[in-house]
Amino acid sequence: MSHLLPIRSALFVPGNRPERVDKAVASGADAVIVDLEDAVPSGLKEATRPVVRDRILAHPGRMILVRVNGLESGGAEADLEAVVCQGLFGIVLPKVDDGAPIHEVQALLTRLEARRSLRPGTVKIIPLIESAMAIENAYRIAAEKTEPERTLTLAFGAADYALDVGMEITKTGEELWYPRSRLVVACRAAGVDGPLDTPFMVDLKDVQAFEADARRAKQLGFQGKLCIHPSQVAFCNRLFSPTEEEVAFARRVVEAFEAREAGGSAAFEVDGKFVDYAVVKRARRVVRMGEKILANNSRY
Ligand code: GLV
Ligand code: MG
Repeated sequence: MSHLLPIRSALFVPGNRPERVDKAVASGADAVIVDLEDAVPSGLKEATRPVVRDRILAHPGRMILVRVNGLESGGAEADLEAVVCQGLFGIVLPKVDDGAPIHEVQALLTRLEARRSLRPGTVKIIPLIESAMAIENAYRIAAEKTEPERTLTLAFGAADYALDVGMEITKTGEELWYPRSRLVVACRAAGVDGPLDTPFMVDLKDVQAFEADARRAKQLGFQGKLCIHPSQVAFCNRLFSPTEEEVAFARRVVEAFEAREAGGSAAFEVDGKFVDYAVVKRARRVVRMGEKILANNSRY
């Protein structure tokens, strides 16, 4: 599904706060994830479902996903029943530890899409990887095939992961290199786009620490980051887009490569940087991504 634009920022908002859903949609986030799971008190979940459905219907054309409750909670089916409607882009499925939940949800979605006259496969799935078992099975989860295809990518939930493995999350995040790297490798090996990084939760007031955290995810190959405050969105949109300079340089690399290759050389330098087939492929990707984002008018 890599023809889609990257999701550079996906802003979480509790489903029981409808006014915040509207603010999130106005924040410029590529995606808004309306939460029915851990940000909503247990006693309010039932009343929140129709509220979330109304907010989806109120924002047609926006990329709105709902984090439903996990299958293990017993609440997922009622969540889907309430929120699968015209305009729902997808669901974030929490606590996915192996491939089985993907098929269970696939069956539920297929039935609901048919009942609501939606094209089969309309509702996409982003499994949330947030346990030791899920990290172990990340490749299998990402590669689990459904017909029609629904899995967009994986997302990382460091809070539940840390709870599961007994990890202390720090501002500098060294402890997260391993699970993050596993997720990137799993997604790419399964042929899906780079994953979405965990929200930064350690210190919401430390903007520099948040930005450094997002940079680490970008370096590793994540396509974007889950955000928990509207103030985090603009930075992620910028960070996970190629800059104008990067696109311009990538164009020069592509042009130089085409000329040199015709002249019998596939390894040379541009502005002191080594270029060969791998480098030019990456440059072509940067150019394509820059053009897609530019065409969507959401970046420059
Ligand atoms: C998100 O759900 C997390 O557990 O970090
Ligand atoms: Mg979680």
